[in-house]
Amino acid sequence: MLIEEASPRQMLEFLVAAGIETPLDEHPVDRFALSVPTPVAEPQRPAAEAQPARMAGGGPAPLAPDAAIMEARRLASSAPDLDTLRSLLDAFDGCALKSTASRLVFADGTPGAPIMIVGEAPGRDEDEIGRPFVGRAGQLLDKMLAAIGLTREHVYIANTVPWRPPGNRTPTPQEIAICLPFIARQIELSAPKILLTMGAPATQTLLGQKEGILRLRGRWFEYAMTGRTIPALATLHPAYLLRQPSQKALAWRDLRALSTRLRNSG
Ligand code: URA
Repeated sequence: MLIEEASPRQMLEFLVAAGIETPLDEHPVDRFALSVPTPVAEPQRPAAEAQPARMAGGGPAPLAPDAAIMEARRLASSAPDLDTLRSLLDAFDGCALKSTASRLVFADGTPGAPIMIVGEAPGRDEDEIGRPFVGRAGQLLDKMLAAIGLTREHVYIANTVPWRPPGNRTPTPQEIAICLPFIARQIELSAPKILLTMGAPATQTLLGQKEGILRLRGRWFEYAMTGRTIPALATLHPAYLLRQPSQKALAWRDLRALSTRLRNSG
């Protein structure tokens, strides 16, 4: 059978359908053809002249993952309030997701609200607007909150990672580890009475669990911050519920448990 050659438009449509929507450069790079430069020993410069490592394009070289985690910890722990934390995160270059995202997606809702919700990562709509949960999953989240008499203003919302992963893929364990000090400090500074984790990445990362979300949802955990712990409930992510609407009853059960606990917490 003769296979027709795809037109440039068909190829583009195929790439978009495969989730590849973010051009990283003007021209394709054949990385197999690039030769690995042999390191040449440079004469030692006096310490006063030493410059930060720079990429060929002029930007700073990305930090190695361990160094990025250390830097994230140092910066996050130095933030005395949420505004400072946001500025420090916005200026932080240690997570590669920042280079493909359009902007930082820090938080929505009311800082200091009794409930803090942590999702996975911004999607396309969030990346465009700069606020978490504004797309279809966010609209469902609003309905879920309304079902227990709450609006966005009654909660504070953030994500495990604050930059959109390309094509909405799941953030890698390394990206999550690098961003963890920031979301942990964000929880600490907002100081909710109850934490609600939505989906596997937020639940496993923040609550130190390994099981799948269908086993973890509906269960209460203790979330430890410096000097105190708060109750944390795991539930299903609204994006999952959009794909599996029959599971909404489980999320509804979780939200009722959340509402009861909040009422009893005084
Ligand atoms: N899904 C998330 O986990 N977070 C968002 O902000 C949007 C969709």
